[in-house]
Amino acid sequence: MNKQILALALGLLSGSAALAQQGQVNVICSVQADWCNLIQTVFARSTGIKVNMTLKGSGEALAQLIAEKANPKTDVWFGGTGDPHLQAAEQDLSLEYKSAALKELHAWAQAQAEQSGFKTVGVYSGPLGFGYNSELIAKKKLGIPKTWADLLKPEYKGEIQVANPASSGTAYTMVATLVQLMGEDKAFDYMKALHKNISQYTRSGTGPIKNVARGEASVSISFVHDGPGEKMQGFPVETITPAEGTGAEIGSMSIIKGARNLEQAKAFYEWALTPKAQQFGAAAKQYQLPSNKAAPVDPNVPDFKKIKFINYDYAKYGASAERKRLISKWEKEVNALPR
Ligand code: G6P
Repeated sequence: MNKQILALALGLLSGSAALAQQGQVNVICSVQADWCNLIQTVFARSTGIKVNMTLKGSGEALAQLIAEKANPKTDVWFGGTGDPHLQAAEQDLSLEYKSAALKELHAWAQAQAEQSGFKTVGVYSGPLGFGYNSELIAKKKLGIPKTWADLLKPEYKGEIQVANPASSGTAYTMVATLVQLMGEDKAFDYMKALHKNISQYTRSGTGPIKNVARGEASVSISFVHDGPGEKMQGFPVETITPAEGTGAEIGSMSIIKGARNLEQAKAFYEWALTPKAQQFGAAAKQYQLPSNKAAPVDPNVPDFKKIKFINYDYAKYGASAERKRLISKWEKEVNALPR
């Protein structure tokens, strides 16, 4: 992990943090590695509880939790898009838990908790949009994509990347967003046409914007809060949200039912909802909007007021049957097509 980031994070800890607790907690972390590593270190240093961290994309995390249902090895699932967390709640993989901090959270984060029967909670939110490599776009005279419709232009053939919705919550958010924006038939026609312009479906949701930043593709379909961190590394990457409207994720957190380290899991969960802990996303250059209203909002966090959002139906698209149906339809009708 970047030493500067860690020093900054440890500076945010109160000097008197007491190492009062013991034991360990097993966490699946579905945000990017720097943020996962940071909370692993800081939580352990401030509480005395050791964190065993596994990094997995949202869809893969859910698959692991389903596989270990009879004998759970995970205590907390931190981050990743909200739809698979709702699915975990529905499948009885996560534990009902009501934090006293709920009332400190934005309405969208509380709504995520309520609609899951308090088996998950919102920890951050962020809009879906496009990333693009400004140098490549200029060099290839492609034009900046401003709308979903723009991505179908023939000049983008082989220039666009998005993740695979089976493994990535980011990509599932795209599928669900398009279905809500266009209606299911038109959305699938759209994704079939888009398929011709896609060079690669990556496993992880952040793969496409990283490849765009490094010049391996011109355009990505990505969460826009993943852009500034790439740009800060010196890459020519910009982000934009489509004019027709877009969806947002409610990045979530769940305690796993049957957690072996329940007390430590609750301590981690409560800590992760505090304004102090919610600064570590931005400290790790990941710019989602934190769910605690008292958490500072970094200037790099996208301005939600300037973005046209659809009225995303989280309950419907987080339901197991719907998510499974849409992903298998995408596999059969879109991914199986030649390019
Ligand atoms: C990145 C984003 C998160 C998002 C996650 C989903 O880490 O910064 O906001 O929740 O991707 O990952 P996935 O690989 O499931 O698309």
